Amino acid sequence: MSNKTLIAYYSRSGENYMNGSVTWLPVGNTKLAAEILKEILGADIFQIRPVREYSENYYKCIDEAKQDLYRNRRPEIVKGPRRPEDYSTIYLGYPNYWGTIPMPVATFLETYDLAGKVIKPFCTHEGSGMGRSEADIRKLCPDSIVMPGLALRGGSAPREISAIQDWVEEAISEFAGQKAAAI
Ligand SMILES: Cc1cc2nc3c(=O)[nH]c(=O)nc-3n(C[C@H](O)[C@H](O)[C@H](O)COP(=O)(O)O)c2cc1C
Repeated sequence: MSNKTLIAYYSRSGENYMNGSVTWLPVGNTKLAAEILKEILGADIFQIRPVREYSENYYKCIDEAKQDLYRNRRPEIVKGPRRPEDYSTIYLGYPNYWGTIPMPVATFLETYDLAGKVIKPFCTHEGSGMGRSEADIRKLCPDSIVMPGLALRGGSAPREISAIQDWVEEAISEFAGQKAAAI
């Protein structure tokens, strides 16, 4: 495994609920946060895309995503990244869906062998923060090192450059500390 970093994220454009009303988002909030992270890290970036995207209609999407969660489905995703084994660290971005990760993210986590890799979750939300997403990622990836995540209020994602910067620096120094303690 080489020492490369990947940003893998799921995000959806279309109607969403933001600051009290349904709003059209030409670019999803998590995508905006992932793009900021890419600027900071200069890392490779990969968008997790379901083969069959959730509806652009907010209320239909809410229902489709709920069905996938309650039935514990793994919606098929478009293949990639090309050489996942090359990455030692994965920044994993997603919106909070029903208190946890969207199910296409669960498909991603189970499709690739992420054992031994460091996963750094970041989540956009409308009030629930990370929810139970970190615990659910740990369950799906018991052999990965899942670091504390960063929660960003969805509508503020484009303005959260310094919060993202601080988190990246904290995560890097915390990981260095853990490694030093393990030696
Ligand atoms: C299907 C669905 C479920 C959601 N569930 C929650 C939730 O449980 N808690 C919350 O704070 N926000 C929830 N939201 C709001 C999204 O997490 C928030 O708008 C996020 O920033 C969207 O990211 P995106 O634009 O990258 O897709 C939900 C949105 C959708 C579409």
